[in-house]
Amino acid sequence: MTIIEFSLFFVLYTNISNYQIDEVLDGLLSRGGSHRDVLEKKFDEATLNHVALMESEAITDVVITDEQGNILSSSSSIDSFHRELIQEYRTSPKYKGIIVEEQWKTSPYVATLSPIMINGELQGNVYMFSPSSIIRDLTTHLSRQFIFVMVLILVVTMIVVFTLSKLVTKPLIRMKEETEKLSNGETNVELSEHYNDELGVLARSINRLAEDLERMKQERNDFLSSIAHELRTPLTYLKGYADIASREQTSEENRRKYLEIIKEETESLTTMIQQLFQLAKMDENTFAIQPESCKVKPLILDAKQKLYPLIKTHVAEVRIDCPEELEVYADPIRFKQVIMNLLDNALRYSGRHPSVWIQVQKLHMKVLITIRDEGPGVPEESIPYLFDRLFRLDKSRSRNSGGTGLGLAIVKEIVEIHGGKVEAKNQNGLCIQVSWPKEGSL
Ligand SMILES: Nc1ncnc2c1ncn2[C@@H]1O[C@H](COP(=O)(O)OP(=O)(O)O)[C@@H](O)[C@H]1O
Ligand SMILES: [Mg+2]
Repeated sequence: MTIIEFSLFFVLYTNISNYQIDEVLDGLLSRGGSHRDVLEKKFDEATLNHVALMESEAITDVVITDEQGNILSSSSSIDSFHRELIQEYRTSPKYKGIIVEEQWKTSPYVATLSPIMINGELQGNVYMFSPSSIIRDLTTHLSRQFIFVMVLILVVTMIVVFTLSKLVTKPLIRMKEETEKLSNGETNVELSEHYNDELGVLARSINRLAEDLERMKQERNDFLSSIAHELRTPLTYLKGYADIASREQTSEENRRKYLEIIKEETESLTTMIQQLFQLAKMDENTFAIQPESCKVKPLILDAKQKLYPLIKTHVAEVRIDCPEELEVYADPIRFKQVIMNLLDNALRYSGRHPSVWIQVQKLHMKVLITIRDEGPGVPEESIPYLFDRLFRLDKSRSRNSGGTGLGLAIVKEIVEIHGGKVEAKNQNGLCIQVSWPKEGSL
């Protein structure tokens, strides 16, 4: 902006000062012309003196010569500059007259020449002289004014530019500081969102990011403390049983019983750690599934087969209604894992001699798998938390039966990775509905 301003001012200044210099020179020429006109009318001693007298009052000077260059009359004393110029310029090619000296910067005078023509013959010349200081004063005055205005504009421009850039950069600097705070782990970020533009949008996004981060930190802490708690309990049991088992006076039969318990506890701990690991992998998105079109019925029968010991101990009845040829788009291992987890729950938590019904239906683009039991179900207010990690209705009973509270969380993750949905509701018992994509859209 400064460069543009300076260039414009330079052009303007040159034009105006040139115009003023031309004005002075033209004025001098026309003054010489009018003296010449008077002399052409009456070229005698009296008129010559009259012209010289008129000019002696003005700041300009006049010198009148004959056609040979001899001085006839002058309004002031003649110096060498006058004489040299008169010697050099004896005639003007134009009747209007010419400028014979315009170097106002170096010469003491600027000068013009107007020829006196009577009856078509040159009778003499009127030389007009004006001190160069007049022009010099003019240009100095002009340049002073220009410099003043230029400095003023420069200052105003700087103030405007600085204020504008402050206005724009201030919120950006605030955002930078706040995001730095975020990356240092502080989440008490609060940016004002009153800007009605992209800055406002950015501020809102940063605020939301801070809130999300705060929530995630809280969730992580809660989860870690729950896990610590979950691990502490079985470890206390383990230590207790190990202590008793290693006592001398413990009978061989009891020792075997305690060792059996220790083995079971260790197994359930291992399961829990495996499940946690699986969930961690799902969170990191490094959990790879290999989905393919596969028949549903064999997978469900296989899952039932795997849970046969549990079915036998609970004297349970498992009914399966599934169209023979129906297919789902799934990773078969993960699909079986989902069915096993749900069937396992239905067998464990629905009382004595449970009766479970697995129903598979074909919908438009989905396959709906419903697993019902006839047990007590889950209190209505707990339904929303059923799929949360480490959620268990009856902590001690579930733990005794090897429950970790991670099964349904894993089910939900697997179903969602496949693009499906899982819901729970009470219907004579608990009813879990999984809608699974029929064809590959992954
Ligand atoms: N069919 C069911 N009937 C009653 N309660 C259930 C049923 N399925 C799950 N639950 C409750 O939900 C909790 C969470 O289940 P889950 O995530 O599989 O964990 P886990 O079986 O390891 O305890 C269980 O502890 C149990 O309290
Ligand atoms: Mg379970």
